[in-house]
Amino acid sequence: MSASPEQQLRAYVDYLRDLGVYDLYRREDPRTLLPESLRTTFLAAKLAQPAPVKTVSPRAQVPPPRVAPPSTLRTAPPPVSAPPTSYFSLDSETPPTPSELTATMPKPKSFDELVPLPTLLVPEADRTAALEAVRAEIGDCTRCPLAYGGRHKIVFADGPPTARLMFVGEGPGADEDAQGLPFVGKAGQLLNNMINAMGLQREEVYIANIVKCRPPANRTPEYIEATTCSQFLIKQIDIVRPEVIVALGGTAATYLLGVKQSLASLRGHWYSSRGAKVAVTYHPAFLLRDPRQKGEAWKDLQRVMAELGLKGPQRSAATS
Ligand code: URA
Repeated sequence: MSASPEQQLRAYVDYLRDLGVYDLYRREDPRTLLPESLRTTFLAAKLAQPAPVKTVSPRAQVPPPRVAPPSTLRTAPPPVSAPPTSYFSLDSETPPTPSELTATMPKPKSFDELVPLPTLLVPEADRTAALEAVRAEIGDCTRCPLAYGGRHKIVFADGPPTARLMFVGEGPGADEDAQGLPFVGKAGQLLNNMINAMGLQREEVYIANIVKCRPPANRTPEYIEATTCSQFLIKQIDIVRPEVIVALGGTAATYLLGVKQSLASLRGHWYSSRGAKVAVTYHPAFLLRDPRQKGEAWKDLQRVMAELGLKGPQRSAATS
């Protein structure tokens, strides 16, 4: 059965979004929006109360924080202009329209700008408990509009708390929302293949998303949703302390690094976030739509493999 014109248009817009063409994608589709009053309320609450900063572990040794040498890393380019301190006056009698909100939306802050790097590091033996504490803190979350967008399960993460490599995606889709695990649908199968091609098993890497709840109709997470959820992913990264983070697609790169640039311009460089080296590559869902780009993604993963000293799948003596 061929795709309807609506499905074709949606696929094309998703394609552009994955290439970093955000503003075309950021449409206000009334079917995927909450009532404006609720959005405004969330926005006002978020602006009035910045997320609290907490330290990570009560009983930890303090090895020096791992930060890659600055010469090899790119930092996010400085903001063109200072972000507005608020989108609108909280006393305003006329709340802004959704398009006004979008027009004044600031560039997100990077994870490093949002929360200072931890000085207390969680020892390996305590990491499972520390992650469980973060999950408990999230609870049955209603901190952002995604709680009311039809989500079924909060998708926390998958993987060992001592992983050297972490993948960060955008947000759960329908399969992830149903199972409560990240990357278990079609894009997840491709991600598994990518991980195996690197010579790793899925069970060896930590996988998480920028938002933990499925956005309605799989739309891109809104700024307020991503920045509300970031506090938990930051804690997860600070506990697991991967050596390398791979940002899968534009949304992951945007919020991890605090940049809003095309994926093409972000790929091929190393960045730093929470003491880990960050590489940016295409989202597996994008690669499913445009398999011609798989070779480019493989180049990105090969750089990650070199960084981690991975040799790819080892052929057994019987088959070599
Ligand atoms: N896409 C994502 O970004 N994350 C998932 O978990 C699944 C699909």
